[in-house]
Amino acid sequence: MQTRLHKVLRVEGLTGASYVLWLEGPFSAEIAPGQFAMLRTGSDWPVLLPRPFSYFDVSAAGTAASFFGKAIGPGTRALAAVRVGDEVSVSGPLGGGFPAPADGEPEPVCIAGGVGLAPFLLWTKQRATTVLYGGANREAIVAMESFPGQTTFHVATDDGSLGFHGNVLELYRSLVAAGEVDQRAPVYCCGPDPMMEAVAADCAERGVACRVSLETYMACGYGVCNGCSVAVEPAERFGGKPWARCCIHGPVFDAAELKW
Ligand SMILES: Cc1cc2nc3c(=O)[nH]c(=O)nc-3n(C[C@H](O)[C@H](O)[C@H](O)COP(=O)(O)OP(=O)(O)OC[C@H]3O[C@@H](n4cnc5c(N)ncnc54)[C@H](O)[C@@H]3O)c2cc1C
Ligand code: FES
Repeated sequence: MQTRLHKVLRVEGLTGASYVLWLEGPFSAEIAPGQFAMLRTGSDWPVLLPRPFSYFDVSAAGTAASFFGKAIGPGTRALAAVRVGDEVSVSGPLGGGFPAPADGEPEPVCIAGGVGLAPFLLWTKQRATTVLYGGANREAIVAMESFPGQTTFHVATDDGSLGFHGNVLELYRSLVAAGEVDQRAPVYCCGPDPMMEAVAADCAERGVACRVSLETYMACGYGVCNGCSVAVEPAERFGGKPWARCCIHGPVFDAAELKW
């Protein structure tokens, strides 16, 4: 992990208060899909702590990287307001990413809600993938054009203004029923907690492997403050304890490890 100031190359404003923030490198070209960084503006940061963001995209030689955000509070608003040439402090890469499927296992299907889309761009650059993407309305469905052509998107909106009318779990169930998504394919999921909990429960019921990337509050981001503890089934990798630190044991967990 490194902490470094990076110059802002551009900020792409999107609908629904979303944005993509491009920063000048150097970045590691080895960043795994699902890893994250702690971000804060170089000056006028309005809160005490930096905020965790998934790496959205990293250029081949690590000369630039982007982060996909939604302005929902002081930190994400400050990052949305930076200008070209300003500096942003980035501490990362942190945490572990989504694992590659085992030999013979079907390709995972990715399920994203809102900014939960962020960890899946790097994944789709590595493998042809089906992504189910849900949001409240058409304004919330953004950034799909950043994805490579080998990505198959299915969109769901709560109000039916774009794509499937319903939530993204209902969309997933309907695609499985229609045979358009392999019912045995592991599910990789990122989005609001209630959505991930519902997806995890559905997968558990059908015996399908599910991994989730948690968006837990974080303070330090590298394992020293316990501010990101989540309840887990005690296991060796958690030192036998009934809780884990999301920043170092996650943010990606096997959904069966978690006590929702
Ligand atoms: C590993 C990881 C990766 C993330 N990646 C991204 C990303 O790529 N893009 C992105 O936009 N965000 C991402 N987040 C979420 C983002 O870091 C938080 O939402 C952050 O707290 C926003 O900061 P803020 O100062 O703008 O708003 P805050 O003041 O922190 O929060 C604003 C409002 O949102 C609510 N809120 C914030 N975080 C949570 C939460 N975890 N659970 C429930 N309610 C919450 C607060 O209660 C408050 O009402 C990620 C989080 C994690 C842990
Ligand atoms: S955020 Fe400090 S231990 Fe995880």
